[in-house]
Amino acid sequence: MAEFSLPANSKIKKGRHFPAPKGSKNVKKFNIYRWAPEDGENPSVDSYELDMDACGPMVLDAIIKIKNEIDPTLTFRRSCREGICGSCAMNIDGTNTLACTKAISDCKGAVKIYPLPHMPVVKDLVPDMTHFYAQYASVQPWLKSDTPVSPGKERLQSKEDRSKLDGLYECILCACCSTSCPSYWWNSDRYLGPAVLLQAYRWIADSRDDATGDRLDELEDPFKLYRCHTIMNCTNTCPKDLNPGKAIGEIKKLIAERTL
Ligand code: SF4
Ligand code: SF4
Ligand code: FES
Repeated sequence: MAEFSLPANSKIKKGRHFPAPKGSKNVKKFNIYRWAPEDGENPSVDSYELDMDACGPMVLDAIIKIKNEIDPTLTFRRSCREGICGSCAMNIDGTNTLACTKAISDCKGAVKIYPLPHMPVVKDLVPDMTHFYAQYASVQPWLKSDTPVSPGKERLQSKEDRSKLDGLYECILCACCSTSCPSYWWNSDRYLGPAVLLQAYRWIADSRDDATGDRLDELEDPFKLYRCHTIMNCTNTCPKDLNPGKAIGEIKKLIAERTL
């Protein structure tokens, strides 16, 4: 997985320290970014020590334990706890990933936990996904077909056509890839980013969809698509082992082929 340093922020202050319970023999420290809009303070990094003999194996287990037993003000998103909903995406030890599928044992030393980088923060580990979801909606992520289908019948697809969606339909929109992409960091106002472009390609690649030309017209734009410079942080970071960089390449290829 790609690792990158978070920008040094001199405004982040040292926060509170919560020591492990007395008698703990297997102690692990978690340094967690804290910021609350209501207190008017700069962000801080609070440090919590847990007894690993009384904690589940994943980073999400640790932060749930911290919230339940030490500090109920710690704020984060989670739902499925099995890598399906995408809501627990955060930056752990310098890598964007899912807290529920990231093993604590894979983290050396203190575990450093920050929100996804370069997103506005709502509170603590919760990024504001409003713009990301608006970009997702902009690619009209639903089937557009001119072909009528009889009521009660499914739209059939050959096995070969169905297999073209493998590696695309599994995307859980966690935004780990987009928030690891330098082009997205600097141009997210106009560049759609790898997650949304992979989703756009998921419909372009669907044999049942009749709007391919319109979809490519919409994407043929110096900012929406061509801010991708094939740096591939996105693919290296995806916790579902998908390849958004390749999907972007396929869109570029289709656009190039139709202008030949
Ligand atoms: S390949 Fe494109 S989308 Fe992926 S990280 Fe690089 S610039 Fe961003
Ligand atoms: S491509 Fe991977 S990293 Fe990007 S949003 Fe989908 S699941 Fe998350
Ligand atoms: S809680 Fe759903 S992906 Fe982690």
